[in-house]
Amino acid sequence: MGFLLMSLLQAQLDRSCQSIQHEIGVGKVADYIPALAQVPSDKFAAAIITVTGETASFGAAKEALSIQSISKLFTLASTLNLRGTKLWDRVGREPSGNAFNSIVQLEMECGIPRNPFINAGALVVTDAMLGDQQSTQDCTSDLLSFVRDLAQDNSIVIDEDVARSERDAAFRNASLCYFMKNFKNLERPVDDVLDVYCQQCAISMNCKQLARSALFLANNGIDPLTHKKIVSEERARRLNAMMMLCGHYDASGDFAFRVGLPGKSGVGGGIVVVVPDVAAVAVWSPRLNANGNSHAGTAALEALVRETQWNVL
Ligand code: DON
Repeated sequence: MGFLLMSLLQAQLDRSCQSIQHEIGVGKVADYIPALAQVPSDKFAAAIITVTGETASFGAAKEALSIQSISKLFTLASTLNLRGTKLWDRVGREPSGNAFNSIVQLEMECGIPRNPFINAGALVVTDAMLGDQQSTQDCTSDLLSFVRDLAQDNSIVIDEDVARSERDAAFRNASLCYFMKNFKNLERPVDDVLDVYCQQCAISMNCKQLARSALFLANNGIDPLTHKKIVSEERARRLNAMMMLCGHYDASGDFAFRVGLPGKSGVGGGIVVVVPDVAAVAVWSPRLNANGNSHAGTAALEALVRETQWNVL
């Protein structure tokens, strides 16, 4: 393809990603979930989709990654749609300033997690999503349908090896659940909540699908390409606010400082960000910084906002 045929967006993405390739070897792959430790650590990908449907991609953008905590965005959106705003009685809306899997605040704050994106908060959201649904499998497949619908792609699946690997090692998340059960902030049996939570984290998507799935958040809750209303305008604004303040755990301030866009990360090395009224972007690079966020992925987003001047601040 000749240079003249390349879009400005693609050129901006290429320049941004090329400028940070030396960062790919920095950081450590998550190994506390054994199946995630198997993923080659030098992978890198990025994908953009704009609200007008223009796309750009770089690297392994069609290769699936384990979305892990990015799933917390989908479960929050879906659960608020299913159960309404009473969910906020059970989970707060403040940055935690603690590690994503920390238990320390839970005791002082009587079993009410600081926000829906730390593990304790996400487990409460999953519990609420389950509600009185009999089968955990039905709950998981409803969530998968929600995600497939967002991404407009029915090929998205759950990686059962990753789900099993996390479920077998879910001691910390089990502890968080039992702790919250003691404070009566978990309705379902701990095993049910962990089963669904480990499945949601093991959803496998590529960067193109991830960016597409977040596009409704760049367009006031309406998918700009199908015109389908996913959430209300107010809810979209609030989901973006949660991502801005809590999407990167105890590095949320640093991410806002460097990137300045609402985003959600996962220990699989993926990050999805929203540029309101413009686009959604996903990046992937498995090596993580000390806070559990993709090192090179963050660097790529920082370079991209410098190139494009995208910023909500
Ligand atoms: O609960 C866990 O530990 C993982 N399934 C998800 C954690 C995660 O992705 C945190 N992200 N940066």
